[in-house]
Amino acid sequence: MRAAHPATTDSLALSDGRIVTLVEPIGRGSVGEVHRGVVEGAWGVRRPVAVKLYDTSADQDSGDVMRRLGRVARHAAGVRHPAFIQILEVDQTDDYHQPRPFAVMELVTGESLASLLRSWREHGLRVPVDFALVVALKAAEALGAALFSESADGSLTSLLHGDLSPRQILVSDQGEVKVGDFGQGALYDPVSHVRSRSAIAYTAPEVARGLPRDARADVFSLGAMLHEMLVGPRFAAGTGTADALDMVRDAEFHMSLVEPNLPRALRKIVDRAVAANPIQRYAHARALSFDLRREMLRMGLCDAQTSIRQAVVGWCEVRTPTLTSEIASPRRSDVVPKLDAEDTIPEIRRADLK
Ligand SMILES: Nc1ncnc2c1ncn2[C@@H]1O[C@H](COP(=O)(O)OP(=O)(O)OP(=O)(O)O)[C@@H](O)[C@H]1O
Ligand SMILES: [Mg+2]
Repeated sequence: MRAAHPATTDSLALSDGRIVTLVEPIGRGSVGEVHRGVVEGAWGVRRPVAVKLYDTSADQDSGDVMRRLGRVARHAAGVRHPAFIQILEVDQTDDYHQPRPFAVMELVTGESLASLLRSWREHGLRVPVDFALVVALKAAEALGAALFSESADGSLTSLLHGDLSPRQILVSDQGEVKVGDFGQGALYDPVSHVRSRSAIAYTAPEVARGLPRDARADVFSLGAMLHEMLVGPRFAAGTGTADALDMVRDAEFHMSLVEPNLPRALRKIVDRAVAANPIQRYAHARALSFDLRREMLRMGLCDAQTSIRQAVVGWCEVRTPTLTSEIASPRRSDVVPKLDAEDTIPEIRRADLK
């Protein structure tokens, strides 16, 4: 168990001497708390940021968490996409006994997709289809950029998300879609299968069965989110955790996508994204983003940003180089998961669910 920490100090020191002032708490998640802050730079430059302070505990080596966070940040440093929440700095507090790792991120002012979906649901409203598609497209682009951007040394960034859910997507008051917390799920327990109760609905079946996750697990999570926005929650009201986990292992959805007003091609895209067998899914989110964008254009949902970019880079920008890094290719990831191999499937650890 990670311990709750006492109230944090109001400033943090970066190793290079700069100070991060914590202005006010924004909220708390499963692994720490987020504050609005300011990085005090040279020449009076004061940059507004979000600061996430990660929890530590006596039985968790915070050095391990820091090393994993550093690794994520090194990969994330090369990712360039407006929907990718930039990690500006990672470091740890100077508490001698139990230093707390922290990440300084681009500050997004807006709402999480989770709270938007909740409030629409509470008001009995459907999610507008164009909103759902734009959010899914931008999130797919961010996931694609995290895999295929070029790092400073020329290698691919090859960064998986690993914990995608509507909580990790922020919709800014400028109308931008922003995806954060890449790699966060593996900071504490790199082999945990289902990250939290709230993430169950977006967990790929092979992940719930304890098989290695790769880029196709992120495709499933994104597909499950799009499915939820177009159809409704994955589980019927009152479904218990054990039944939900059974449904997740079988890639089942409480309601299928039969919305008559949606084009068949769009339904096929969603079905392919949430296919039970990873072989039948999009290989990575960039491939999903191409199909989504094409279908949205057919539906007349081209946003201005897409038209401008099309003019700049051309329509067929498909560039799908082989992933190189171990982040995108965890051990055994080249082994196609065998979903019917019951004897290789460990039980989901209830302790992973909060
Ligand atoms: N870069 C950011 N800019 C602004 N607000 C943020 C940023 N990152 C996170 N937040 C907000 O801070 C709060 C806490 O975020 P946090 O990521 O810790 O929890 P969460 O996303 O709710 O759950 P999880 O632990 O699964 O990530 C949430 O309301 C989240 O929307
Ligand atoms: Mg989060």
